[in-house]
Amino acid sequence: LNKPEYSVTFVRPDGEKIKAKGKEGDTLLDVVVNHDLDIDGYGACEGTLTCSTCHVILKPDDFAKLPDKPSEEENDMLDLAYGLTDTSRLGCQIQLSKQLDGLEVQLPATINDARS
Ligand code: FES
Repeated sequence: LNKPEYSVTFVRPDGEKIKAKGKEGDTLLDVVVNHDLDIDGYGACEGTLTCSTCHVILKPDDFAKLPDKPSEEENDMLDLAYGLTDTSRLGCQIQLSKQLDGLEVQLPATINDARS
């Protein structure tokens, strides 16, 4: 079964852009792992909502397009992330979809591994 592919761009704190593609339903964490993207420390807990290293900052428009509001567990983790913004989410909870094709997310300057 061939799922559609969508593109996503990660923007480093210094403005460098990392473009990648993923299949429908892949999380941003899946994309980082599957393409072995060089993002320091990203996704340390492998999507189990215990680290907050997958913190990304969305544009307000994209943030509004996400189908789900953050769960309580996600919000608890976001509270531990450095540089939290009103449009912050955890990348392991964002799934690629047609509505989000071309999504561009900002990587925060510092990450916090809440497990340490
Ligand atoms: Fe750890 Fe998302 S990868 S909370």
